[in-house]
Amino acid sequence: MKILFSKTAHDAGISAARVFADVLKKKPNAVVGLATGSSPIGMYDELTEMTKRGEISFRDVHSVNLDEYVGLTPEHDQSYNYFMHKNLFDRVDIKAENTNLPSGIAKDPTAECKRYDALIASMGGIDIQVLGIGNNGHIGFNEPADAFTKGTTLVNLTDSTIDANSRFFASRDLVPTRAISMGVGQIMKAKRILLIALGKGKAEILERALFGDVTPRVPASILQFAEDVTVCADEDALSVILEKHPEAVTR
Ligand code: GLP
Repeated sequence: MKILFSKTAHDAGISAARVFADVLKKKPNAVVGLATGSSPIGMYDELTEMTKRGEISFRDVHSVNLDEYVGLTPEHDQSYNYFMHKNLFDRVDIKAENTNLPSGIAKDPTAECKRYDALIASMGGIDIQVLGIGNNGHIGFNEPADAFTKGTTLVNLTDSTIDANSRFFASRDLVPTRAISMGVGQIMKAKRILLIALGKGKAEILERALFGDVTPRVPASILQFAEDVTVCADEDALSVILEKHPEAVTR
């Protein structure tokens, strides 16, 4: 595992974009696993700039997103579909038909999970999977639980996640209580994983995830077993790691 230090969130976005761009340069038709949340926004901004400068292209790229809220239409401004269009898809040369997210409005969410699993399998696996980390250690929407999820799952969101995400909605009761999320097993199959963590609020959980026990109570802790993980984080998110394991951080 590589833990790359950045002084600021802006620099961490640039550092993450370099890791991501390297994959596209080596494999222009890569399958990329994408994430939402505030953490990857800086990376998406930089990838947009790199595309404008002609350094990379998404022309032959296929994407699969980690998750989507159940009950939100793709046009809803808090849906992850909307987020992806605004922050990346509408700004780069990716083909709309090559982008994929679970549908939040599928009549049968369980069937939608199966469809998504089959889709990922048919794409031949994920070359790079981008992740943020939730305050409780979740990845995608895989919440702390007794066991790691395997494939795409219909999840009940925890109170802490609903609280954390209520900042984006007019009121807490408008936050969806369920989501469809790629499973931890699928995330672990990605050839490369890029985890982005920003801000003081992530410092404790990031240290527990990367150095604590591997347990489904901290879903991101499974990344300790992944083959190829790069963590791009700012100084604030790294503060506990810098204190306890300074030797693990690359400056
Ligand atoms: C949401 C998403 C996660 C994301 C997490 C952290 O719950 N489902 O994929 O990693 O929030 O978000 P942020 O990056 O805004 O802290």
